[in-house]
Parts: sequence; C-alpha cells; structure tokens
Amino acid sequence: MSGRALVCTRLGGPEDLELADVATPEPGPGEVVVAVSHVGLNFHDTLIIAGTHVVKPEPVFSPGSEYAGTVAAVGEGVLSVRPGDRVAGNEEFGCARDAVVVRADRVSLLPAHVTDRQAAAILVAYSTAYHALVQRAGLRAGETLAVLGAAGGVGSAAVDVGRLLGARVIAGASTPERAEAARRHGAHATFSYDDPRDAKTTIKELTGGEGADVVFDPVGGAVAESAVRAVAWGGRYLVVGFASGGIPRVALNIPLVKGASVVGVFWGEFVRRDRAAQERNLHEIFDWAGAGRLRHHIHDVLPLEEGPRALRELADGRVRGKLLLRAGGPAG
Ligand SMILES: NC(=O)c1ccc[n+]([C@@H]2O[C@H](COP(=O)([O-])OP(=O)(O)OC[C@H]3O[C@@H](n4cnc5c(N)ncnc54)[C@H](OP(=O)(O)O)[C@@H]3O)[C@@H](O)[C@H]2O)c1
Repeated sequence: MSGRALVCTRLGGPEDLELADVATPEPGPGEVVVAVSHVGLNFHDTLIIAGTHVVKPEPVFSPGSEYAGTVAAVGEGVLSVRPGDRVAGNEEFGCARDAVVVRADRVSLLPAHVTDRQAAAILVAYSTAYHALVQRAGLRAGETLAVLGAAGGVGSAAVDVGRLLGARVIAGASTPERAEAARRHGAHATFSYDDPRDAKTTIKELTGGEGADVVFDPVGGAVAESAVRAVAWGGRYLVVGFASGGIPRVALNIPLVKGASVVGVFWGEFVRRDRAAQERNLHEIFDWAGAGRLRHHIHDVLPLEEGPRALRELADGRVRGKLLLRAGGPAG
C-alpha cells in the first residue's frame, strides 16, 4: 500500500514542505494502519517543522499531530479495533499523509454521531481545554473564566468548554474583530488587548474589580505578564502556551497576595500518563458534539497538497478556529 505524504525534508518554513509518494509499512505487533481522511493542524506544527518546538524530529518526517480516518489493517495482538472501525488519534507529528501506522492503544474509537471531520477538528484543542479547565483548574459552574487568544484553536475551545461547564466566560484577543469571533463560541463578554499591558485593567473592569477565578493563557508574552495580575483571590492561572513567542516572567508575590496558583498544563504528557482519564474526557466532549452543543468553528478544509499554504496561514495568525487537511481515506 502506498499513499501521499506531506514531508519535511529540511527544517524551515511551510514553503519548504513537499508532497511525496510513500510506501505504507505493514503494521507491526500492537500497531494499526489508519486510512486518514482528515488531518487537524495546530500552531505547534509550524514550530516543529522549523525546529523550534520542544519536539524535534529529524527530517525526513511529516507534520500534523491529529487525524481521523478508518482502520485499514491491524497488527498481531490487536483486539481493541478492527478494520473498518472509524477512529481518531494524535501523535507528536507524522499525521499529514494518506495513511498512518500508529500504536493501537493510541487511537480512540469514534461514536457514530461524530464525523471524521468533527473529530479531527476537536480532538487536540477540546481535549487540551477540557483537561486544563477540569483537571488542572477545577473550574466550577458560576466562576469567571478569562480566555486569552480566544479566537485561536485551543482558546476558542476553552471558551466553548468553559461555557458548557457553566462558567461566565470573558474572551480576549489581539484585535476587536478577533475578540468578537469568540462570541460565536459563547463568550459572555469580550475584550481586546491592542496594548497587551491593558489586559489586567480590562479583565478587572469586566469582573467588577474582583478579577477572574481562572485565566486560560495560550499566548504568553506581555499580555500574560499583565493578565496574571487580574486573577481573583483563590484563582488559578493556567499556563497553556506561548503563541506570542515570549515566555512571561511572573513575580511570585502575585500568587502570594491573591492566594492564587499558577498551574502548568501539558496535555500530551497527561495523556501519556493517564490514557483512561483522557478517554473519559473525550467521551464527554463527543457527547457534547453528538448533542450539537459544541460551537467549534472550522476555518477551512484544504486538500493535503495545500498543506504548505495551510501552515503558512497558521504561522501568520490568519486562522480562526480550526484548519483541516483532507487526505485520501474515506470520510465517515
Ligand atoms: N499545554 C498544552 O498541552 C498545549 C496543547 C495544545 C496547544 N498548546 C499551545 O497553545 C498555543 C496556542 O495553540 P493554538 O493551536 O490554539 O494556536 P492558534 O490557533 O494559532 O492560536 C494562537 C493564538 O495566539 C495568539 N497569538 C499568536 N501570536 C501572537 C502574538 N505575536 N501576540 C499576541 N498573540 C498572539 C493569537 O491570538 P489572537 O487571535 O488574539 O491574535 C492566536 O489566536 C501554542 O503555543 C501551542 O503550542 C499547548
């Protein structure tokens, strides 16, 4: 079996990626071959191909860290899935191709009410947001959640999940237009931080001076250094990512005087250590999807060969919601 693959033959920008025909190996013991229909792209894919992410594969490799498709073949000893099952999964990289060979214990069965397209659009972003808000922050109904980067992938998912968990969600983005896009995901109020240093004042104003019980921050940089000062008494500041490129410095007197916590979120490691908990999280996310309660937004679905253009849009911050690639597998 062979298929197309988007490949990074040398570290660099999206334009350095190539489309190649590659052979699909037979699955080894405990492995499955999945005919990929949709690949979900994420900001970190742009960092991995540039060699600036903590995950540093050696070229040649494929970018793309989440996919949905149909099991085409199973290796020796695999009982959890069968050929024909629809599944989704995530890997650190390697998914932007017509077929992937992955460990069977890393794929999740898709219920009939969730399409491949939906699954590839929500798996990483919604699982990250859910893990951050439920396991790491312990967000409770009625609490106030401030989301930075709320028009982006994990940010918009955090707005949606926060709303579904019963929080009052205030959504921040770099421009008023991008902040307004977060309203679609159910934000109760929005704000923009044209000047990142204003984030503290604005969040305080929107919370009657109290500050936010939970801040979800995938942006980092100057906006983080301001927003961390807008955490309420007993609040939790979730460190999710540094999409702005800057790792913020936070003075430790801030959590002290607020009785607050600065909480790290590392979803990939959480999944590695507690797969069963991730499956439970995903179950609830898929239930919401099946009941039509998610408000995720698909920015675009481009053919696999348009991968370089898609990753350029992500790198330049032009994507609102999720950008998908359509690979060659049948779409369920
Ligand atoms: N901790 C974890 O487990 C985990 C899991 C998944 C992702 N992440 C991380 O979360 C971050 C976001 O990922 P994503 O997939 O949501 O990316 P994304 O869709 O590109 O969204 C990133 C957001 O960051 C903001 N941003 C980007 N560059 C900026 C800049 N120079 N200044 C200010 N804001 C900027 C943008 O906000 P605006 O819309 O306001 O412009 C954008 O919407 C990444 O760093 C990623 O690695 C972490």
